[in-house]
Amino acid sequence: MDKFVIKGGKRLEGEISVSGSKNAALPLIVASILSDDISVIHNVAKLADIDSMNQILEVLGAKVQLSGTDLKIEPSNCDKFEAPYDLVRKMRASVYALGALLGRLGRARVSFPGGCVIGTRPIDLHLIGLEKLGAKIEIEHGYIVATGNDLRGADIDLMGPHGSSVGATANVMMAAVRAEGKTIIRNASCELQIVELARFLNGMGANIEGIGTPVLIINGVKKLHGVEYTVIPDQIEAAAYMIAAAITRGSILIKNGIAAHLEAVIDKLRGIGVEVEDKNGHIMVSAKDPLKPIDIRTAPYPGFPTDVQSPIMALLATVDGISVITETIYLERFMHVSELNRMGANIKVEGNFAVVKGVPRLSGAPVMASELRGGAALVLAGLAAENQTVVSRVYHIDRGYEHMEQKLTGVGANIERLSD
Ligand code: EPU
Repeated sequence: MDKFVIKGGKRLEGEISVSGSKNAALPLIVASILSDDISVIHNVAKLADIDSMNQILEVLGAKVQLSGTDLKIEPSNCDKFEAPYDLVRKMRASVYALGALLGRLGRARVSFPGGCVIGTRPIDLHLIGLEKLGAKIEIEHGYIVATGNDLRGADIDLMGPHGSSVGATANVMMAAVRAEGKTIIRNASCELQIVELARFLNGMGANIEGIGTPVLIINGVKKLHGVEYTVIPDQIEAAAYMIAAAITRGSILIKNGIAAHLEAVIDKLRGIGVEVEDKNGHIMVSAKDPLKPIDIRTAPYPGFPTDVQSPIMALLATVDGISVITETIYLERFMHVSELNRMGANIKVEGNFAVVKGVPRLSGAPVMASELRGGAALVLAGLAAENQTVVSRVYHIDRGYEHMEQKLTGVGANIERLSD
């Protein structure tokens, strides 16, 4: 298992390029099996989660070839309908195979994704949505077995207890594009990856209206064709490097960062006193003391993303005064707090609130990543901390941040990957 050894306290300066979005690419990859033709997806990041999705496609019978950042998918022989536990357990996004397989083959057998360290992550809305389209769903020995050769359009509401569901919207869309008649998805997710998936599907010949709004109207079509598509830059990765500039009181140009995708994050960073400039396709971020505390509440897009909650908490841990962070999507997503406190932060969690009392300096310590975004937060804290921080279980971070240590080294960080 790899670890990062970080010697913190250096002001970071320079340029970092943002890679293609993980969460936007994953549903596109699996959606490509809705046609028999070749699809090519550009700007695909080299990430563990992308590898896992490619492996699922191969198990289903598709041919997948990644050269550089171009991913070519040949789905014509995709005739298997089982996504096995060994692959699904690595990544919850594998549950997208359910909607795509139903849309392609009229049947799917996908392992139940199970628990997760960021709290319970049910899939009831996915299943309700697919059932409304006419699929028969059974749970057998830890697998979801879905059948439905004659899916029909339906009126489906995807509002969950914490807002709409990204994954359920994607699954229902993929199953609905080739269903007979009209599907209306109410309370659809408006997240960027859903907008991207809808555009990708329309590029394949689907008929989806209302893209980017909470009401999606899908008129089923008989056949889809291949598509060539470029993935958007990863806004969550961009936010991490914006915070790297802020936490080291440095100055970084985030190349390919799209400010319009990050309005809520930029708004909060500016509120903290960080300078953020939209440079037309790039974002310039610089910070110097004193910075101000702020309150943050996560919310579905275009609100403040839950995936940036832990990184910004690391920053606020270094800002004098009291900041309160409220997590509304995954109420227990605070695994990083005890590790940040081991680095000298002063953070108390009460229910779904974290009360962050800024300290003058974090101190390096051995810490452990236990999930992707929390792991990134520990690296960011390590960049600002005095002396040495060792972040273990870096495989969590590798799921979603391409070559993180190389990108940070490029702006002057002292960070090294060590293998056990
Ligand atoms: N929910 C339900 N029932 C469902 C589905 C979801 O109650 O059937 C609840 C969840 O428990 C949660 C909320 O609804 O409280 C939102 O979950 P959602 O389904 O929207 O999330 P997801 O599709 O599982 C995606 C991202 C996450 C990101 C969330 C929220 C991908 C592959 N994953 O997850 O990304 O945090 O949306 O924006 O796109 C990450 O990249 O680290 C990550 C966790």
